[in-house]
Amino acid sequence: MSELVLVLDFGGQYKELIARAAREARVYSEIRPGHMSAAEIKRLNPIGIILTGGPNSVYAPGAPKCDPGIFALGIPVFGICYGMQLMCHMLGGDVSAAGKGEYGRVAVTDSSGKSFAALMSHRDSVTRLPEGFTATARTASCIASCIASCENPAKKLYGAQFHPESAHTEGGREVLWRFLYDVCGASGDYELDDYIETQVTQIRRKVKNERVLLALSGGVDSSVCAGLLRKAIPGRLVCVFIDHGLMRLREGDEIEREFSGRDLRFVRVNAGERFLRKLKGVTDPERKRKLIGGEFIRVFEEEAAKLGSIPFFAQGTIYPDIVESGGAAGATIKSHHNVGGLPEKLGFSEVIEPLSGLFKDEVRALGRKLGLPEAMVERQPFPGPGLAIRVTGEVTETKLEVLRAADAIVREELDKINPRPEQYFAVLTDTRSVGVKGDGRTYDFVVAVRAVTTGDFMTCEYTPLPHKTLGRISSRITGEIPGVSRVVYDITSKPPATVEWE
Ligand code: XMP
Repeated sequence: MSELVLVLDFGGQYKELIARAAREARVYSEIRPGHMSAAEIKRLNPIGIILTGGPNSVYAPGAPKCDPGIFALGIPVFGICYGMQLMCHMLGGDVSAAGKGEYGRVAVTDSSGKSFAALMSHRDSVTRLPEGFTATARTASCIASCIASCENPAKKLYGAQFHPESAHTEGGREVLWRFLYDVCGASGDYELDDYIETQVTQIRRKVKNERVLLALSGGVDSSVCAGLLRKAIPGRLVCVFIDHGLMRLREGDEIEREFSGRDLRFVRVNAGERFLRKLKGVTDPERKRKLIGGEFIRVFEEEAAKLGSIPFFAQGTIYPDIVESGGAAGATIKSHHNVGGLPEKLGFSEVIEPLSGLFKDEVRALGRKLGLPEAMVERQPFPGPGLAIRVTGEVTETKLEVLRAADAIVREELDKINPRPEQYFAVLTDTRSVGVKGDGRTYDFVVAVRAVTTGDFMTCEYTPLPHKTLGRISSRITGEIPGVSRVVYDITSKPPATVEWE
C-alpha cells in the first residue's frame, strides 16, 4: 500500500464517510486525531490531508486545533466544514457567527454559475478568506457573504463549507475524487488485496512463532478475523467458540463446520446448560445481560487456562466499534464489546485487531476475498447475549426451542424479499393468548416479528413489510410450531424503541 490519505478528526459525525469515500476511490485512508503533529504527519508521508467537520466554533475555548505546520508541508489539504473554518482561521481569515447558519440541503452556486444542492450543517461561516485564497462557490441565498468553498491552488489548500462526503450533496463524490486524483495525484492503487497483504505481513512480524487466541463468536467480524489470521499464521491460530446455548437454529454446528480442520485449532465449548442454570428465574433484561457477560468471561478463562500460555489475543473489532465506544474522538454512544475486559483479565501481552480500520461492508468484501462462505459473510448482527434477550421473561430451553423454530421461519421468509431489511428476527414474548386450533381452545405464546431498515443500527425504522409476507409468516409460525397461538408485528422505530426487545 503506497498511497495514504490522512483524515484528521475534529469530532465530525461524517468522518467515517470521508475515509470510506477515499477507499472507494481506491485511495487508502486512515482517520487520526486532529491534533497530530506536522512532524508525525510528515513521517507518515501522506499524499493528502483532509480536515473533518466538528461540532465546535473555532473561537470556543478548548476548540480542537491542528498543528499550523501542516499547511506548510507542501502536502495538499482539504478542509471540510469546521476543517475549512479552522484552516481559514489559522491562516489569517475571519470566521464569524453573524449569520443564522445553514442546515440541510442548501443551493450552492459555483464560479461558473452552475447550481447544485449540498448538505450543510454549520452556524459559523468564513467571512473573509486568508491571503492567496479565492471563493470557488457561494451559497445562492446569500451570494454576497456565504463562502461555500475556497481554494489556494498555489499552496494546494482547499476548503468546502458543505459536506462532499454526504450522499445528500450533488456531485460530492466527484469533489472528493478531484481532490484525491487531480490535486493529490493519487494513482488509485489501493485494493482490498493490499489490505490483506499488509495485515498478513504485520501479523507475521508481530506474532513471530507464537500462537494467537481468537474469541470467535461466529459473527461476520470475528469470522473474517479468523480467516485473515488463518492466512497469516496457519497452524498457530486457536479459535475459542463458546456456544452458550443461546444461538439460533443450527448456528453452533454451522460455525463448527466452517472452522473445523482448516489450518487452525477450533475449540467449541458447549456451555448451554451452564448458562441456562445461571439464567434460571431471571427476568430482568439488564441482569440477563450481566449474568451472560460474566459467565462468558469465566468460561473463556477456564478454556484459556487449559490451552496454556498464549501471548496474543485477537478480536474482530471494526472501526464503528471504536467510534461507538468513543475511541476516535467522537462521543461515546455505547460499547458493544462482547469480550470486553478479557484481554486485561487474562494477562495477554498484546491484542491484535486487524479489522479495526474497516467498515462492515468492507469487512464483508474482505471475507469474500478470503473465501468465506456467503452465508457467513452476509450474516446479520446478532447480539452477544443471543436469544436470551429475545425471550422476554425467564429463559427456558422450551421457550428457546419455540423461538428458534419461529425465528427460522421469519428468516427463511424474509431472506426471499428484495430489498431485504437490514435485520429481522422473531421475539418470544412472555404473553400468552387464547386461540383455537382444530376444535380445541389453546392458550399459548405470542411471537413478535421484528424487521428494521437502518444504515448504522444506531437509529432504525421498522420495515413496512408487505401484508402478504406477514400473513405467510404468521400462518407458518402458528401452523408449524406447537405452543404459539398468535403472531404480532412490531411497528416501532428506534428511537423510541431499540432494535432488540431487551
Ligand atoms: P439495540 O437493541 O441497542 O441494537 O437498538 C442495535 C444493534 O446492536 C445489536 N446488539 C448487540 N450486539 N452485543 C452485540 O454485539 C450486544 O449486547 C447487543 N445488543 C444489541 C442489535 O442486534 C442491533 O443490531
